[in-house]
Amino acid sequence: MPSPTTDEAIRAQFERTFGAAPSFLAHAPGRVNLIGEHTDYNEGFVLPVAIDRSVRIYGRPRVGQHVRLYSLNFDQLAEFDLDDIRPSSHAPWSNYCRGVAWSLREAGHTLVGFDGVVYGDVPVGSGLSSSAAIEMATLAAFQAATPGLEIDPPMAARLAQRAENEFVGVKCGIMDQLIAALGRAGHALLIDCRSLEYQPVPLPPEITLLVIDTAAPRSLAASAYNERRAQCEQAAQLLGVKALRDLSPAVFESHRSLLTELLAKRATHVVYENARVLEAVEAMRLGEVARLGALMNQSHDSLRDLYEVSSAALDAAVDIARSVPGVYGARMTGAGFGGCAIALVETRAVSLASERIMREYPQRTGLSPKVYACVASDGAGWQQLD
Ligand code: GLA
Repeated sequence: MPSPTTDEAIRAQFERTFGAAPSFLAHAPGRVNLIGEHTDYNEGFVLPVAIDRSVRIYGRPRVGQHVRLYSLNFDQLAEFDLDDIRPSSHAPWSNYCRGVAWSLREAGHTLVGFDGVVYGDVPVGSGLSSSAAIEMATLAAFQAATPGLEIDPPMAARLAQRAENEFVGVKCGIMDQLIAALGRAGHALLIDCRSLEYQPVPLPPEITLLVIDTAAPRSLAASAYNERRAQCEQAAQLLGVKALRDLSPAVFESHRSLLTELLAKRATHVVYENARVLEAVEAMRLGEVARLGALMNQSHDSLRDLYEVSSAALDAAVDIARSVPGVYGARMTGAGFGGCAIALVETRAVSLASERIMREYPQRTGLSPKVYACVASDGAGWQQLD
């Protein structure tokens, strides 16, 4: 985890690197997902939360088409021309920024270049969507630098997703970019990934969301992710629907014999996970925290046994968390194969849960976890500085 870097330090770096003061600050958050995993690319439902870890870009518009970006995390300068945007193997972190510029231009937008210092405290590669955060922060930076560049948040999310799919080359769904764009303090967001309609859902007041970073690197994540996507598409085709989203549990059960055992497992996860998201929203609206926790537990078990994207480290973190009194539920969050789990914890049980995880997880796995409470935060934006 990068050490906390203050805004003053980022501004000071800007002045050192570019010899002037920044004139805007653009930012976008990371996320956890309460429930609704591997449903977004099946055009289904998700319930993510934007968190109080973000990517910040202090910037200043330039005359002309040049973009210069200095990453404080990587201590590296990257530059490109808006007229000739290509991926960089030398500064791979900058490909998320280049990709967003490329995608904006592909959509017909005229951009103004800028200088920027980029700093993120979303841990990279832990499943908290540091890539969507840097993409959406870059998009906000272009909006700050370019007069009149107005893009509504769902469209901005789609442009960033295109950057990641086609420029960076990762076939992610739309969830991470959308929650980075639209997050709301104190709320989760129910998103329909087909229509991109969304509704903020207040988080229960008496709970804390605890993030458990398993410190286990994500292995084979990209290839296994693409394989799961392909399996879902195949299952939808065999069942004669556009996407698995189109099947209720009852209709699915009466047709599951059309699928091989493996495809039936994958589709079972997606069909029931969509139903669990809607039930979770109902539980939150009724203040039924225990029911929400039970649904999160079911989600994890389904990801472990049917979708097969959990890992020994994630399962250990989840088991330990669930054994603590005051923990309503725990599950992996994000794509899986390593990364982070989340626990829904009664606020007064937070220190007990943290202590137990810090003690027992290393004994079980030999790894040193990080545990922290996260605060549901607002989505991407920018402000002019004086
Ligand atoms: C990653 C992807 C998302 C989503 C999740 C799994 O975070 O970027 O689009 O598919 O995995 O729910």
